[in-house]
Amino acid sequence: MSNDSFSQNMDKILVHGGHTLEGTVRISGSKNSALPILAASLLTRDSCTIHRVPDLSDIHYMLTILSELGCDVERASGTVKINADSITTAAPYDIVRKMRASVCILGPLIGREKEATVSLPGGCVIGDRPIDLHLRGFEALGAAVRVVQGNVKVLAPQLRGATINMRGRFGSTVLGTDNLMMAAVLADGTTIIDGAAEEPEVVDLANFLQKMGAKIEGAGSSRIIIEGVKKLHGCEHTVIPDRIEAGTFLIAGAISGGNLLLKRVDPSHLGAVIEPLIKSGYHIESGTDTLRISPNGNRKSMKLETEPFPGFPTDMQAQMCALLAGSDGISVVTENVFPQRYMHVAELKRMGADIELQGATAVIRGVPKLSGAPVMASDLRASAALVLAGLQADGITEINRVYHIDRGYESIDEKLNEVGAHIERVKA
Ligand code: EPZ
Repeated sequence: MSNDSFSQNMDKILVHGGHTLEGTVRISGSKNSALPILAASLLTRDSCTIHRVPDLSDIHYMLTILSELGCDVERASGTVKINADSITTAAPYDIVRKMRASVCILGPLIGREKEATVSLPGGCVIGDRPIDLHLRGFEALGAAVRVVQGNVKVLAPQLRGATINMRGRFGSTVLGTDNLMMAAVLADGTTIIDGAAEEPEVVDLANFLQKMGAKIEGAGSSRIIIEGVKKLHGCEHTVIPDRIEAGTFLIAGAISGGNLLLKRVDPSHLGAVIEPLIKSGYHIESGTDTLRISPNGNRKSMKLETEPFPGFPTDMQAQMCALLAGSDGISVVTENVFPQRYMHVAELKRMGADIELQGATAVIRGVPKLSGAPVMASDLRASAALVLAGLQADGITEINRVYHIDRGYESIDEKLNEVGAHIERVKA
């Protein structure tokens, strides 16, 4: 998609319900892996080439920020080439405010230039998005951190390795772990990150940094050990598959009672999503880089809690609520990572879902059929949940503010139509 197509266009999509999905979907590269990896290219003056970068507005925002910092950025379909030979260290507010994930440029800027100025990320619809753990980690490495007029300014003339506990009240922090890894790879001495996030995207970033010459052990566990080096060099890397896109399409197959084959996935990233789907009545076959879902009896209720990886992912909670809205019996979903992440509930109820929120817990009483209705997209996963609900609903579901979906899903309407859905994108 071209740059202007990512502006906050007011396109909407119409989902015609009742179509069973059959066929093959190719999953894109991971948004949440590509974003920190693109930022990590700031750590060297050499060029980095990154393949399988998805064509999403969040990626566009990150490439724009990197360009504004002085990087040469070339993009040819899924491959991005970045050269950060000469850069500044202050990111522009008007872009940063649009995407909280831009906070992950702090670590590489501090690691390489020993200073950074980035606007504090605001809150967002899934709740408060603090970065206190990131800043505490930078201070442990010897940085001075100040918040001035909504900007966080970090000065680190001499970064020294340290032992840092990154665990917060909601568990580990993914981008916090990423940021500290990227700040520590050029620090003097050894850094130990305890309470590190174990997500596959953290492992992918660590693999990218190691290709640049960084010395990192333990990525994927709760303890990451980093031996600082003097300099890093360019490298070439292919981003892992997007496990949340894959999980979303698994639920699309489940919700439509279809038979879907997903290609270019890593089943080992989806254990906590596959297991409850099998328990609730779906047959799932895993291949080396494929997953197939098909019906296997009636749709039973579930009891689910979101947790950091390897637990059930918060980024799949809204999509699972859409499935459970039409499943038999009473399901209970508890959101432990972002307790306010229920923007989808009010919209699903407009479609006839029977969901009662009790704090961070949703009690979902399955109904025989949802009915299509005009609904409002909000955060990108809540928006995807509304598309999924529309697949099973009677009639047409009109989803407004589609730009939320385009942030995290590469042509979700086209991919669904290719396997039998009937979705129209209406230009505003
Ligand atoms: C990453 O966000 C993902 N984004 C999110 O995906 C995902 O929901 C989240 O991890 C959890 O898995 C990207 O990778 C770009 P956290 P991140 O720091 O790193 C609290 C999507 O849909 N916290 O792991 O920002 C925080 O408030 C997006 O693709 C602090 O208290 O999330 C939350 O409750 C949405 N202080 C919990 O920790 C901090 O300094 C986990 O947040 C940092 C976080």
